[in-house]
Amino acid sequence: MAKSGSVSASDAIVVEDKTFTLNGDNVSYRFHVDNTTGDLLSDHFGGSISGAIPTDPEPEVNGWVGMIGRVRREFPDQGRGDFRAPAIHIRQSAGYAVSELQYQSHSVIQGKPELPGLPATFGGEDDVTTLVVHLYDNYSSVAADLSYSIFPKYDAIVRSANVTNKGKGDITIEALASLSVDLPLEDLDMIGLRGDWAREARRERRRVEYGSQGFGSTTGFSSHLHNPFLALVHPSTTESQGEAWGFSLVYTGSFAVDVEKGSQGLTRALLGFNRNQLSWSLGPGESLTSPECVSVYSNNGIGGMSRSLHRLYRNHLIKSQFATSNRPVLLNSWEGVYFDYNQTSMYTLAEKSAALGTKLFVMDDGWFGKEYPRVSDNAGLGDWTPNPDRFPKGLDPLVSNVTELKAGNTSTNLRFGIWIEPEMVNPNSTLYKKHPDWVMHAGPYPRTERRQQLLLNLALPEVQNFVIDTVSDILNSADITYVKWDHNRGMHESASPSANHAYMLGIYHVFDVLTTRFPNVLWEGCASGGGRFDPGVLQYFPQIWTSDDTDAVERISIQLGTSLAYPPSAMGAHISAVPNHQTGRSIPVVFRAHVAMMGGSFGLELNPEELTEDESAAVPGLIKQAEEIAPIILKGDMFRLKLPEESNWPAVLFVSEEGDKAVMFAFQINPTVNHAFPRIRLQGLDEQATYKVEGEGEFSGKTLMNMGLLVAFEGDYSSKVLSLERV
Ligand code: DGJ
Repeated sequence: MAKSGSVSASDAIVVEDKTFTLNGDNVSYRFHVDNTTGDLLSDHFGGSISGAIPTDPEPEVNGWVGMIGRVRREFPDQGRGDFRAPAIHIRQSAGYAVSELQYQSHSVIQGKPELPGLPATFGGEDDVTTLVVHLYDNYSSVAADLSYSIFPKYDAIVRSANVTNKGKGDITIEALASLSVDLPLEDLDMIGLRGDWAREARRERRRVEYGSQGFGSTTGFSSHLHNPFLALVHPSTTESQGEAWGFSLVYTGSFAVDVEKGSQGLTRALLGFNRNQLSWSLGPGESLTSPECVSVYSNNGIGGMSRSLHRLYRNHLIKSQFATSNRPVLLNSWEGVYFDYNQTSMYTLAEKSAALGTKLFVMDDGWFGKEYPRVSDNAGLGDWTPNPDRFPKGLDPLVSNVTELKAGNTSTNLRFGIWIEPEMVNPNSTLYKKHPDWVMHAGPYPRTERRQQLLLNLALPEVQNFVIDTVSDILNSADITYVKWDHNRGMHESASPSANHAYMLGIYHVFDVLTTRFPNVLWEGCASGGGRFDPGVLQYFPQIWTSDDTDAVERISIQLGTSLAYPPSAMGAHISAVPNHQTGRSIPVVFRAHVAMMGGSFGLELNPEELTEDESAAVPGLIKQAEEIAPIILKGDMFRLKLPEESNWPAVLFVSEEGDKAVMFAFQINPTVNHAFPRIRLQGLDEQATYKVEGEGEFSGKTLMNMGLLVAFEGDYSSKVLSLERV
């Protein structure tokens, strides 16, 4: 990847008079204070610039749109003639909807302060520097601090806003964007990730047209429907070429992405809270902090943008000690046995899975509930005591027996993991009978159930403590070193719009306490698959179950889509049984395994007893292969060489951090009859170096990147994994 310079964090912010420039290795972000209005005006966000900049001719002002609606603004407030969507909308104590936030002062901080109560990227003084610009509205006595942190090595700028009521009456924050960016007159495409349950992360690219367009979530959570991620690119930008701006909101709640091409042709993008679910009241002296939004810039196409986000998230977002370390290959019981098990059959499943060489056994849903046993999804959530019919002496006997098993022919003991869904309650539970007031609800309105369950209100301190104590007790009850934290519904009724963000502050507190208390536990996030695949969850959990669709062909699209914003290290990916339980398709085990190997947490999700002889014989070798290449997947750079939505031969290359190793995955979906095979051109190698390509020979980086490898396949669902080594 081309580096145009190396900027140290301490030099990354340049303040001259009232002009602020943030420089990364390949990016500059510049804005200034308008001397007449005190407004912050944007100058540039893109490739590096230096020294003086040309003075733009003043826009001509005619018609209804005044000067304020013709300029590029950093933090557009409500009213006063900017008719585009505002980044902040305050209902002032006197009821007015107008604000006038003007520059007051600024400060530069080495490093990056934490965001109170919210997940956030982190780094030391050598990694990141922060500029805080203080704004003030003299009419309403509202202060707003805009925070800009630059990670120069990652070409990443992280923004958030903090609003404080310095007046004497209450105000309401109706809208607050974490990031607002006004780009110059240019044709742009916007890219988002859309989907639904079992169909996450479909890439959606469309032209930014005049007017407003956008997407978001009102589900209470980041959701399967749309992901809190946006890319803006030029129409000519590809995976490997052209400019790309990526925006990723570090938040797990409802959000909104608004992209608006105003009457003058300038494009404004806003990412932040969903304004329909905010209405946050601030009494005198109170503040609201927005989640933060990461922006990255790349001139190496969409792939370059993704790699910057991946690196930043691996090193400066995910707090877990397991962020980039090899995860134990696991077997998860869900698709193998669903709810149909007891202690003996669970042990047999673990025994069989250990024989294949897995290192971790995960008991999924169905182990708990006494008065309301969890033998189907109709009951039990909330009653986190082991089901006495299944586990008469609690979990410890099973856990002890499983952790004495050895993985394959090794001397490694199996680890034990458990599934929980602690934010939920079934009406059929003792918890709900005891605390019906603990669930999210809106007074007398019916409490809508999804999957026969209701959502606990995590904004309540007593609920937070219940969840913390319950999970702690489970983890202290036996040698459990892995948790799959599930979450299977959205928010339907809430007492007020602000209850949604209050929930988020509550759940972040719970995540923080538990992951700090149990740092040696490997935590996996899950929300019916990827319903909460977002940077907020990744702060606490290093991996997320990517989708409930385990069909390998579907998974290529889902995993590659997810990788637009999130590192492969964060993706849980399993080999499941055939015919696949979601699609009914039968795909060879090698292809299924190769797709799953592209995720940081590789595993199986099937009953080993149902494997054919050939499959059983193949699995130990596939596990070994996954373990060998894992360090490159977990720490390396990912290059999407061919996309599944564009080619019958999707292909991906991972290049190790040091550049000395690489591994290429190539797939054929439909059979090729009487037709040539594609030449796959590699990326990210050293042109001058020579690489040994497994089974092919030795070639220069130049040859591999400019000419490529011709990969031949046989039949449908055929796949190849090739290792490369620099010689
Ligand atoms: C939804 C998850 O995504 C599945 O993997 C499984 O854990 C089920 N819930 C269990 O109820």
